[in-house]
Amino acid sequence: MQASDSAISANSPNASALPSTTALCDAVDREFAQSTKRLCDFLRIPSVSTDPAFDGETRRCAEWLVDALRALGFTAEAANTIGHPMVVAHHPGVGPDAASRPRVLYYGHYDVQPADPLELWTSPPFEPAIVDGPRGTRVVARGAVDDKGQVMGIVEALRAWHALAGGPPCPVTLMIEGEEESGSKSLEPFMHEAKARLAADVCVVSDTGMWDVTTPAITTRLRGLVYMEVTVHGPTRDLHSGMYGGAVPNPINVLAQILAGLHDDERRVTIPGFYDGVGELPASTKAQWESLGFSDSEFLGEIGLSAGFGERGRSTLERTWSRPTCDVNGIFGGYTGKGAKTVIAAHATAKVSFRLVSKQDPAKIARAFEEFVRSRLPVGCSASFESHGANAAIEVSESSRYLAAADAGLKAVFGKAPLLIGTGGSIPAVGSIQRILGMDSLLVGFGLDDDCVHSPNEKFELACYQNAIRSHACILREFAQLSR
Ligand code: BES
Ligand code: ZN
Repeated sequence: MQASDSAISANSPNASALPSTTALCDAVDREFAQSTKRLCDFLRIPSVSTDPAFDGETRRCAEWLVDALRALGFTAEAANTIGHPMVVAHHPGVGPDAASRPRVLYYGHYDVQPADPLELWTSPPFEPAIVDGPRGTRVVARGAVDDKGQVMGIVEALRAWHALAGGPPCPVTLMIEGEEESGSKSLEPFMHEAKARLAADVCVVSDTGMWDVTTPAITTRLRGLVYMEVTVHGPTRDLHSGMYGGAVPNPINVLAQILAGLHDDERRVTIPGFYDGVGELPASTKAQWESLGFSDSEFLGEIGLSAGFGERGRSTLERTWSRPTCDVNGIFGGYTGKGAKTVIAAHATAKVSFRLVSKQDPAKIARAFEEFVRSRLPVGCSASFESHGANAAIEVSESSRYLAAADAGLKAVFGKAPLLIGTGGSIPAVGSIQRILGMDSLLVGFGLDDDCVHSPNEKFELACYQNAIRSHACILREFAQLSR
């Protein structure tokens, strides 16, 4: 990767006092072996937010991060919330110019998904392994890319600034949460309460992906998410399936039939009103996506598939970036042990999630799903519901001066401009930041499609980690040349 001074910085009167992009990248590279060691230390702490058995470790992880930021001159704390601690840190920026430069808020998360199924890992999930792969060396551990490696991309960039200039050139605040993977229930209450402390001019989020290992990307659309758990209740107790089978409603059969009815033959979702608010893509966006040269065979081949599957007449990119979907994420009930047990279970449960786009209303979709299920229950069955979150889709501006600055910073590192992309995933915090703090986020991420996020053997390519650090360092340099 090359490091060169970008066009913006060369022309800016504000740039002369700043370290050059080459100096920043060199500082990052000199420190990189240590940066990798620190990432491994961070990864060793099993901060699984959804499982109370890990609460102590999750707090320890927050405190680890606080210590790392204090060592870089930040005031930092692991603030108590109704859930896991929120790491908040602040640095006023170095030098007399800092106060007139944009205030930057960084968002990320230090919590991770559960590691199971454990037996599918090639090395223990919380003992980071540095191994060789086809693209060079990678670190394998739960949270490697989602999101600890990316959070460390920011922390280590701030370290480079600390080494070269005594601290960041702009006022910097970090808000790193510990509940992103489990519903972020503390995030909005915390943001309301800490609004003044979190005030900034731009928010940078590093929890998304690149286009490929040599091509950076800025994500401008995220899908929303409605996650529901439904339980169908039938007879008052489990029954002998010979004595009762065929004469009573079987909750598992009933649930299976309802779930099967969620899609039609065109693979569209059949819930009435589901597509309300879903717009067609502007022709220009469609053309831009077509020009990206996305390879179905690479995307699908890597997961052992030869053909895609989804709404008919749509490309894979359209299906994942711009169309709403419904997926059953888990289903259970009855006898699931070894061997056979002839039983009709009293209950059956499914976890069902919907990815949303455009203006779809999460609350309306949750209600419509409940109605869809209830209206299909036979006499004698009832259903209960639990919500595990509801967030609308998000689009961020593609034409802000901060995006132009990020573009320049990424160009300096990669030697080419980032692509503007969408993602099928969701980051609820981006919506909260828009609503509560009144700011668009700049989503600059360094993951790859084959990083196995949420799966066994999650990894982060060290090349991506190094470029993440360089990029955050150089993007901050570009921000420093903008006035507030
Ligand atoms: N980093 C992901 C979001 C993501 C995934 C972005 C893939 C780009 C590509 C984030 O940590 C995540 O997993 N989000 C959850 C949100 C949910 C738990 C509310 C998701 O998308 O399932
Ligand atoms: Zn995740």
